Amino acid sequence: MIKIAPSILSADFSKLGEEVKDVEQGGADYIHIDVMDGRFVPNITIGTLIVDAIRPVTSLPFDVHLMIEDPDRYIPDFIKAGADMISVHAEASPHLHRTIHRIKESGIKAGVALNPATPVEWIREILPDLDYVLLMTVNPGFGGQKFISRVLSKIERVRGWKEAEGLPFEIEVDGGINRETARLCAGAGATILVAGSYVFGQKNRKEAIASLRPETGK
Ligand code: DX5
Ligand code: ZN
Repeated sequence: MIKIAPSILSADFSKLGEEVKDVEQGGADYIHIDVMDGRFVPNITIGTLIVDAIRPVTSLPFDVHLMIEDPDRYIPDFIKAGADMISVHAEASPHLHRTIHRIKESGIKAGVALNPATPVEWIREILPDLDYVLLMTVNPGFGGQKFISRVLSKIERVRGWKEAEGLPFEIEVDGGINRETARLCAGAGATILVAGSYVFGQKNRKEAIASLRPETGK
């Protein structure tokens, strides 16, 4: 079963609470929250204040994607604000094993994100420790970018390791996901699809979300 995580980066921030409720009613499985620091990526977005503000409006799990340098410094704050799962970028985390275990010891799920140009071998040794792997299908920083199809072979390789070793982690993809690329990613082994502009760019979020699921979307 494919899970859908709308990214609020493309929501209307003047009515963020309503937007979150709308995708919850539309059948979303998670709320994807993109945290950017203007250093690891060339954009500044959401901090703990926003996470804290929208926590009461939904019961959906918060999938917090940290695109920041020195993520260890901020992980406790995002957990306090209501994160249910946190991913850190391998490119920004020299001690991934320690970072991942700190997140898990707090009782929430931990993932590692990889930029399109980063080889999947970077996370090979830590796969058994992970709840999920986040494979970026655009260069992180902005919504609405074009899907990089070369990442499909990375998804397949990670799926191959998962199946060969019987590991439980999920494979999440993020960037440029629409009706067509959703099918390509699911076919390659992705189980969680992040979609920002595709979901929030449509009036009917329920239809948009359903159309991303290969089993229901026509
Ligand atoms: C990009 C973010 C994504 C972004 C996806 O850096 O990590 O989550 O919101 O947006 P779309 O779906 O529009 O590519
Ligand atoms: Zn993201």
